[in-house]
Amino acid sequence: DTPLRTLASADGRQIGVAVADNRLTGSTAYSSLVSGQFNSVTAENAMKWDAVEPSQGNLNWAAADRLVAFARANGQVVRGHTLAWHSQVPGWITNGGFGAAQLRTLLQQHIATEAGRYAGKVYAWDVVNEAFNDNGTRRSSIWQDNLGDGWIADSLTWAHQADPAAKLYINDYSIEGVNAKSTALYDLVKSLKQQGVPIDGIGFQAHLVLGQVPSDLKANLQRFADLGVDVAITELDVRMQTPSNATTLASQAEDYRKVITACRAVARCVGVTVWGLDDADSWVPGVFSGYGAATLYDENLQAKPAWAAVAAAFGGS
Ligand code: G3I
Repeated sequence: DTPLRTLASADGRQIGVAVADNRLTGSTAYSSLVSGQFNSVTAENAMKWDAVEPSQGNLNWAAADRLVAFARANGQVVRGHTLAWHSQVPGWITNGGFGAAQLRTLLQQHIATEAGRYAGKVYAWDVVNEAFNDNGTRRSSIWQDNLGDGWIADSLTWAHQADPAAKLYINDYSIEGVNAKSTALYDLVKSLKQQGVPIDGIGFQAHLVLGQVPSDLKANLQRFADLGVDVAITELDVRMQTPSNATTLASQAEDYRKVITACRAVARCVGVTVWGLDDADSWVPGVFSGYGAATLYDENLQAKPAWAAVAAAFGGS
């Protein structure tokens, strides 16, 4: 079977996977699929702030460096994830009693340090992650509450200073269809572009539920592209009640096909990343009890019907 990365590359697009560092180092079967099937990788956790700076000034780049080196060795691009987020902020910050001005400096230094370290080695950064509520208001967070609305533009500007070549993204979930949340983000992107803030792309996470690919996914991607930014599906998975069966796996394959097809229909859709290589590795069962089986490979690293659907959607046979 032709590898997914061969098919996606022929289409000028990325097919990516979120990589767990312990699996990359611990399983050659895992690392062989990551290198053989994908032309893009994202660190599932290793580039998050709590991972790279567990205590103040104690910088730990080992796992992030490992993934960047792996990607380079295997001709893959790296999507950097993520610089400014409300979650996985180290405890020394959340419990540190810092004032607003100090927090702003800490965030600026973090972005300068991390984006600077990987300058020229990262294709794109999810600079800002999950900044909105479902109703379109800004999500309360340590950054929003202390720095105000400007933290998004500031973060993008700092990232651009640190790595002028990287594509700078805002990334979020539940923005795949046209809704209050995606429209609030759309309005923000329009305004950032008008102000000349460096914004290059929007990441649509796409943590989907079986049978619920929004029918307006393509139209929604296109309206963002029409603002003059790239778009990407950045964290695709399709969860279902477990155990799966032939019927649900076939429906899942159809959902994956729809997402790839929507991306391919939008010229500025650069590609699709799946969030976790295999079902043993996925975040879903730990968070949604009774749900899982969300990825392209089963617990034994066997390709599922969704794998074949992705291949076919990229023009494979
Ligand atoms: O590293 C610690 C380990 O030392 C500790 O013993 C263990 C005990 O719980 O926890 C480990 O940290 C876990 C970490 O993953 C690394 O494995 C955290 O508990 C766990 O919460 C964390 O989950 C990650 C989650 O983000 C955190 O918000 C998932 O793996 C990761 O898939 C998930 O990814 C997010 C994206 O970044 C953003 N979009 C949504 C997506 C799914 O939630």
